Amino acid sequence: MSLKQDIKEILVSEDQIRNRARELGEQITADYEAEGKKPLAIALLRGSVPFLADLIKYIDLDIQYDFMDVTSYEGTRSTGDIKILKDLDTSVVGKDILLVEDIVDSGYTIQAVKELLLAREAASVKVVTLLDKPARRVVDVQPEYVGYPIEDLFVVGYGMDFNQRYRCLPFIGVLKDELYR
Ligand code: IMP
Ligand code: MG
Repeated sequence: MSLKQDIKEILVSEDQIRNRARELGEQITADYEAEGKKPLAIALLRGSVPFLADLIKYIDLDIQYDFMDVTSYEGTRSTGDIKILKDLDTSVVGKDILLVEDIVDSGYTIQAVKELLLAREAASVKVVTLLDKPARRVVDVQPEYVGYPIEDLFVVGYGMDFNQRYRCLPFIGVLKDELYR
């Protein structure tokens, strides 16, 4: 039984994702090269894994990557409120961090992780996200690199889930209305 039958609309196709990952990778390469830096990529589990895998193919620098799993407590006022489910294995002291996200919504997650990494004495933290929902932003945080800004829609695929399903779809889509209930 194919998961594709649950999709109402494809928002970003496989080809579009790959092309944008290449553009972002080339831009990131140029920017860090210009500053004589090489980033440590930190991908937030689990949604950003497919994007990390595509993106790093196009970053032509001596980079390393590591993973972190966090949940942010939405609704609390302090953006530092974050629960670490899996921490890094690598020290960030003095490193230029490239935080890799699948999608930025309220902004709580990237804001909290940025603060955490800077508190741990990272030299710099930039964020690359495949998708951005600016209309949903609650905290004042802007990713440096955005693949596609999208409307206020709940999307699945290419790492993104609905109740842990649909992560393996190769494109980004919107589920049929009856499935969100
Ligand atoms: P934020 O902390 O509100 O910015 O939420 C970011 C996180 O929420 C992302 O890393 C995703 O895990 C999840 N998320 C936000 N919007 C969506 C969506 O449309 N589909 C799937 N996951 C989403
Ligand atoms: Mg996430």
